[in-house]
Amino acid sequence: MTIHALIPCAGSGARMAGDLPKQYRVVAGAAIVAHTVRAFLHCKAVDHVYVVVQPGDAYARLVLGDDARVRIVPAGGVSRAASVVGGLDWLRATGASVDDWVLVHDAARCCVTPAAITQLVSACADDRVGGLLALPLPDTLKHADAEDRVGATLPREGLWLAQTPQMFRLGVLREALRVAPDVTDEASAMEAAGLRPLLVRGAASNFKVTYADDLEVAAAILGARNGA
Ligand code: CTP
Ligand code: MG
Repeated sequence: MTIHALIPCAGSGARMAGDLPKQYRVVAGAAIVAHTVRAFLHCKAVDHVYVVVQPGDAYARLVLGDDARVRIVPAGGVSRAASVVGGLDWLRATGASVDDWVLVHDAARCCVTPAAITQLVSACADDRVGGLLALPLPDTLKHADAEDRVGATLPREGLWLAQTPQMFRLGVLREALRVAPDVTDEASAMEAAGLRPLLVRGAASNFKVTYADDLEVAAAILGARNGA
């Protein structure tokens, strides 16, 4: 069984102020994407880590250094899904098989742990479809009206927040994304193809660094793990 990690790292981080795309901001002593990649390098089951960046990106090489298992792929696109497609096509062009597994993971989810990745891999390795880390919704869910007042309270039973990694077979995922190119995660494309990805319980700490405040939370989590 061959498993590739594919890290979309080609966004501009518009929701976070600053000159640098968020994946290159330094927290707890290293760039966000460097923390992310390191978690995958600690998983023996992962063959190579492919980091998809915008063509001309100079930061990735700088912050990731040289590691035989890390490959920088200048195939980023205009959306996350386009960057994932660019990465999948690169994988195929460089010899990966349609039957290989791909773990797609946001560069910006830098607090993911090797244990959580391994848990997803164990849960999905014998699965027909594959699956994703996700979190049962912890809070009460409100639907807003046009004035940002509560229009309704929705039952949260059975609702999960989708995280990454998301683990699917390369060929099936590529075809699903061809048919459904406007999705915000891989599972949505698989669902559109009529498949039912497995929900594997993750942790709240595997959140996506999105707003400036999130940098502090990520730094606290990573710092605590490193004994800082
Ligand atoms: N991403 C990507 N290519 C894009 C857009 C996003 O590879 N064209 C990546 C980001 O680098 C990030 C992941 O997809 O690691 C999740 O996307 P998101 O958190 O939305 O990042 P950005 O799009 O960069 O942020 P924003 O939406 O605030 O602009
Ligand atoms: Mg985005």
